[in-house]
Amino acid sequence: MTGFLIFIFLACWSISEADDYWSPKTTDQDGSPLMFPNERTTLDDCHLRYHKLYPQAEPKPAFGMPVPLKEFAHMGAIGWTQRNGNILWQCGGTLIWDNFVLTAAHCAVDSRNQAPDVVRFGDIDLTSADDDQYAQQIKIVEVIRHQMHKFAANYHDIALVKLLKGVRLHDTVAPACLWLDDELRFRKLEATGWGRTGFAQEQTPVLLKVVLKPISKQQCSEFYSNITTRKLRSGLQDQHLCAIDDRMDTCEGDSGGPLQIKLMHNSKVTPFIVGITSFGSACGTSTPGVYTRIAGYQDWIVSTMRQNGADVDENIFNATICALRYVHFREYEDAVIQEKTIDYTSYDSDNARIKDYGNTDWLAEIGWQSGGPENCFGVIIDEDTVLTIADCTNFNGLAPTTITYQGGNTAVISKIYVPPEYIKGFSYNNIAVLKMQEHLNLSISFQPSCIWHGNEIPYSILQVIGYGREDMNTFPYSDERIQLNPTEKFLHIQSRIFNESSCVLPNSYSRSLPRGMSREHLCVGNDVFIVPETCRLRIGAPITETVEINDRSYHMTFALSQQGRDCGFGEYMLATRPASHVEWLKSVLLPNYQDTGSSVSFVDPDLLQGNSCENDAGVKGRCVTLGTCSVEWSKFLADGPIKFCSSSKVVCCPLSKIKNQQSSRVHPELLECPQLVKRLAVTYSPGSMVNIGWISGENIEFRCHGAIITKLIIITSASCLSEGLPQFVQLVANVSQKNFEIDGIILHRDYNSTTNSNDIALIRLRRPLSWSADVFPTCLWTNTSHTPLVMELSFEDDEEIAFDYVAPMYNSDCQRTHPQAIRSSQICARSYMRNSTCISLGDQLRWDAPDGIPYLVGLMVHAPNCVDWRYAVFTRITSFLDWISANAF
Ligand SMILES: *[C@@H]1O[C@H](CO)[C@@H](O)[C@H](O)[C@H]1NC(C)=O
Ligand SMILES: *[C@@H]1O[C@H](CO)[C@@H](O)[C@H](O)[C@H]1NC(C)=O
Ligand SMILES: *[C@@H]1O[C@H](CO)[C@@H](O)[C@H](O)[C@H]1NC(C)=O
Ligand SMILES: *[C@@H]1O[C@H](CO)[C@@H](O)[C@H](O)[C@H]1NC(C)=O
Ligand SMILES: *[C@@H]1O[C@H](CO)[C@@H](O)[C@H](O)[C@H]1NC(C)=O
Ligand SMILES: *[C@@H]1O[C@H](CO)[C@@H](O)[C@H](O)[C@H]1NC(C)=O
Ligand SMILES: *[C@@H]1O[C@H](CO)[C@@H](O)[C@H](O)[C@H]1NC(C)=O
Ligand SMILES: *[C@@H]1O[C@H](CO)[C@@H](O)[C@H](O)[C@H]1NC(C)=O
Repeated sequence: MTGFLIFIFLACWSISEADDYWSPKTTDQDGSPLMFPNERTTLDDCHLRYHKLYPQAEPKPAFGMPVPLKEFAHMGAIGWTQRNGNILWQCGGTLIWDNFVLTAAHCAVDSRNQAPDVVRFGDIDLTSADDDQYAQQIKIVEVIRHQMHKFAANYHDIALVKLLKGVRLHDTVAPACLWLDDELRFRKLEATGWGRTGFAQEQTPVLLKVVLKPISKQQCSEFYSNITTRKLRSGLQDQHLCAIDDRMDTCEGDSGGPLQIKLMHNSKVTPFIVGITSFGSACGTSTPGVYTRIAGYQDWIVSTMRQNGADVDENIFNATICALRYVHFREYEDAVIQEKTIDYTSYDSDNARIKDYGNTDWLAEIGWQSGGPENCFGVIIDEDTVLTIADCTNFNGLAPTTITYQGGNTAVISKIYVPPEYIKGFSYNNIAVLKMQEHLNLSISFQPSCIWHGNEIPYSILQVIGYGREDMNTFPYSDERIQLNPTEKFLHIQSRIFNESSCVLPNSYSRSLPRGMSREHLCVGNDVFIVPETCRLRIGAPITETVEINDRSYHMTFALSQQGRDCGFGEYMLATRPASHVEWLKSVLLPNYQDTGSSVSFVDPDLLQGNSCENDAGVKGRCVTLGTCSVEWSKFLADGPIKFCSSSKVVCCPLSKIKNQQSSRVHPELLECPQLVKRLAVTYSPGSMVNIGWISGENIEFRCHGAIITKLIIITSASCLSEGLPQFVQLVANVSQKNFEIDGIILHRDYNSTTNSNDIALIRLRRPLSWSADVFPTCLWTNTSHTPLVMELSFEDDEEIAFDYVAPMYNSDCQRTHPQAIRSSQICARSYMRNSTCISLGDQLRWDAPDGIPYLVGLMVHAPNCVDWRYAVFTRITSFLDWISANAF
């Protein structure tokens, strides 16, 4: 943040080195100065309305470490030692505790009725000694079959193998967790094994995994009904699970081996065992494999382990506890892997799918007076507006009353807008605007979130906001262990965008989507499933990304979360896109929005403000804001279809009806000012400023500033001169030069010190100034539709002229907090980084063009000498060009 230290530029050309990373951004990509429209006609103006002066740097952590193969750390090969000393590996098993392996009951004996005697872990290739570095081989003490298992039948095919001693836990040898929930919504499961199915197949020596698709019991029964063997007399039961290989070319894993799903947490993946390979058809057929479903056997597993000496409680296989128990041994999710070589992998934690850090300053939690939903959020889009979904505006018939934001501040909701088309319970038009009674208490550096306007989203990944346990979401560096910590915090989830056809939503969402997804919806999510309770979606919260506009990054809201189980992991989530509701949002958010009705409006999006146009009657005109066109609204309506340009606030106005016609009566000398200043090759920014002096007894008092506009004329505010006539002016550029005596002053006739309207005055000098590189005029800003976006405000700092960067504001925005009415002949400007600067009468709103020409944009109107401000009100010079021309010459 060091760049923020440099904000006062004492008497020097301040904004020239635009290539400096920390220098303020004043031009767009093409090098044109950034301009701000005087009237708000679009919502797509966030980057101007909340323009950022300086960029923000973001650190990118990365680290690396060697990784042995962890993927199969729970896989065990169950072996039968032969008389000759060779071991036949005929079944697979899953390590679920230091000294317990889960397998199929039919693996309790081999064809010769011998029990296995050994289990080998950490070995990928059983036939090769090359990879035996991590292998652990442990003797079996006992194989405990389920008491209801019979070798003659395919039921209760589950057994526990007790080992002689615990394994040495290591990256390559660590227990799996168990999936104990009856619900199985995984679309893909994995079976692993050395390839032997138990059906007399040749064993592959290398551990393989195959991706399988679970199928329903009904589908599966079709395969097994006509081969109802004596082993399956009662048909398939809930204890069975079927899965099929789409490609039909591999086998379904080792007998007794795991059917598993990898679930994410802590940016790692933990294998959860769903089933045990029980029976199935031969390889290369389309018959599904049948697995013993673990979920029904939790009690049996735990009690059997206890009976056999394990000191465990019934929570041992709780998903959270189990996942964290071995987290330090697990593989990282692929998203964080930056580069992988055979023995070294580097990671970038910044790419984690879930991050437990990141800004939530934009987030507003929506609250009800007496108990509402626990999970309703919105996004702050300006000082008194929160955007959310309509679902969050009604709870049991009650409307929310407050929002909580930025660490506990609260604000009262004064108005709620919901599109008339919204129907509760449906996902269409599910958007809402909350207006606050008062401005939110936001820090001066806070940038509200912007609303993305385009139909296309230029990203494939957006950030979703969720909430979840701290322990399950901490990013583990190296192989640190993670302590249980149920505290919950906000999570930022990198979520991929899916189109209508690739979007996979939970079936339950179809109730609220009878017409299916449409353009107003955004489907985002992640293909991996997560450990349950790791992440809960924040409903109504924004789906965002940082967008670069003119080299500055802005927080952009692309959508608002509607519903999404597990934050869109596994099955995706649904969100509302504000871009599809822009017209409705404009009607709520834009000042003086004209609801034109469909019969009379015709918007031509290609016509921008200032473009030439022609209305349907063939009358030539120009696109101007409604206020600039002197045709009355009612007359417009009476005259038939109105032609709108780009927005319903910019109309095609007949040329003859455009007010304030293009500098028509602006004196030529004022218009030639830029050329003159260029010729003078000016070098000293405050050279066009003067101090205005009063003789008070023996002292000289300089009460305010003026700006030189011709050799004889100084411009200042009328309020500056209201305390009596000044006697002379002094050049700021050279205070030792003789002062210039004043000939007379011209106050604006309609200056009103109560309302500060028409606060402008001219001072005529007795003798003319002589131009030089140090003494020159300030040119007047003449563009009536736009104002430079990055201006400078002069003010006195320790008897020197200093400048602070300021940005123009829409009058409509300024009016929201300003106690008095702000007129169109006034302009507000806000400081980029200060809430307090001593500014005073006649202080000037100036713009130094890239070619060095100084322009006067505004004059500080009457205000207490030193004000705490975030913005100040100025007399708008462009409104007085005619008056100046008529009175200065
Ligand atoms: C089951 O029976 C149907 C019809 O009799 C037959 O087409 C199908 O191939 C049989 N399935 C198996 C696995 O034998
Ligand atoms: C698992 O344990 C965690 C932490 O104690 C607890 O919050 C959670 O409810 C448990 N889950 C189940 C399914 O019991
Ligand atoms: C504004 O917010 C700040 C920081 O959160 C807090 O210290 C201050 O009390 C708040 N002011 C008001 C008026 O709420
Ligand atoms: C949807 O996305 C899929 C996968 O990215 C792509 O193959 C398909 O063409 C897309 N469909 C449409 C209609 O864009
Ligand atoms: C300031 O004015 C004095 C008196 O006219 C003159 O001698 C001096 O050179 C001027 N200084 C500059 C920097 O122009
Ligand atoms: C100044 O404006 C106020 C408010 O509109 C009005 O009451 C007052 O008469 C005006 N004063 C003058 C001198 O016009
Ligand atoms: C005012 O500035 C805008 C933005 O740069 C520009 O498009 C427009 O042409 C200017 N108008 C005039 C009259 O110069
Ligand atoms: C202005 O900012 C200063 C610190 O930067 C703070 O102490 C002061 O309270 C702020 N004033 C207002 C009105 O926000």
